[in-house]
Amino acid sequence: MAIQWFPGHMNKARKALEERVADIDVVIEMLDARLPASSANPMIARMTRGRPALKILNKQDLADPAVTALWLDWYRARPGTQAIALDAGEKAPSQKLIAACRELAPNRGGLDKPLRVLICGIPNVGKSTLINSLTGRRIARTGNEPGITKGEQRILLADDFELFDTPGMLWPKIEVPEGGYNLAASGAVGRNALDEEEVVLELLQYLARHYADLLRARYRLDTVEGLQDFELLEAIGRKRGAMLGGGRVNVQKAAEIVLTDFRAAAIGRVSLERPDEWRVWEKRAKEE
Ligand code: G4P
Repeated sequence: MAIQWFPGHMNKARKALEERVADIDVVIEMLDARLPASSANPMIARMTRGRPALKILNKQDLADPAVTALWLDWYRARPGTQAIALDAGEKAPSQKLIAACRELAPNRGGLDKPLRVLICGIPNVGKSTLINSLTGRRIARTGNEPGITKGEQRILLADDFELFDTPGMLWPKIEVPEGGYNLAASGAVGRNALDEEEVVLELLQYLARHYADLLRARYRLDTVEGLQDFELLEAIGRKRGAMLGGGRVNVQKAAEIVLTDFRAAAIGRVSLERPDEWRVWEKRAKEE
C-alpha cells in the first residue's frame, strides 16, 4: 500500500518537543478514539518515555463505546498513564483534563510549582478544536516571552496549570499495515497518499466482520455474510445507484460513499481496532 509520510515535516515538531519536554510534568497525546494505536506517534512515545502520560481518546462520539472502554483500560494499565475519552461536544473538557493531569502529578500544583503540561497529536485528531474550546476567553500566549519558543502556545487553564502546544506537525508513522489503512479511512492521511478503493475494501472487510448489522441496515443489504469485500462494495454501489453504463457498478463512487459515511458515523459508531487485534497486527508487522 502506498501511504507516504513525510519526515521533513516533523523536524520542527521534534525540535520543539525536545526543548519543551525537559521541564514538562505531564505529556498529553491526543488519539483518534476509533483507531487509538494507529493514530499514535511513535516519536512522542520515544521522546517522552518515563513521563506521566495522559492519552485523550478524542472523537469518541464517532467510536464504538464498548471498544473505547477496552482502550481506556489498556492505557490505564500502563504505569504512569491515565486515559480519558472526549469529543468536541464535551461541555467542560478542561475539568476532565485538569483532573486527570493532577492525578498524574500529585506533587505539582500551587503557584510556586505550577503544573506544566504538553499537548501533542497527529493532524486531524481534533487538537485545534479542543484547544479552541479550552481557550474560551482565556488568553493563549505565543512566542516572545521568556521560556516560550516561537510559535508555541501557552494556555493558562488555571492559575497553576499551564498547557503548552508546540508548533510543527507530528505525522503518524505507519509501521503496521492495518494501521495505515485505518489512518487513511479516518482521513488522517491525505487523498493523494492512498488508493481509495483499497482502503475501502479493507474497511468493508473489517466492518463486515465486526459490524455486519450496521452495514446491512445502512445500505439495506439482504446479507453481508459470505460476500467478499469487492462483492460487498458492488452491492452497496448498486443499492446507492452508483452505476456506469451496461449495468456496471461505479466502484470509485461506491468507495467514496462508504468513506464519507464512515467518517460521519453514518454507518454507526464504529471502531477500527481493538487492543487484542492491535497486538496481533503489531507482532505480525515486526516479524515480516
Ligand atoms: P487538528 O488540529 O488535530 O488537525 O484537528 P482539528 O481540530 O482541525 O479537527 C479535524 C476535524 O475533526 C475537523 O473537521 C473537526 O471539526 C473534527 N473534529 C474535531 N474534534 C471532533 C470530535 O470530537 N468529534 C467529531 N465528530 N469531529 C471532531 P473538518 O471536517 O476538517 O472540519 P469542520 O467539519 O470543522 O469544518
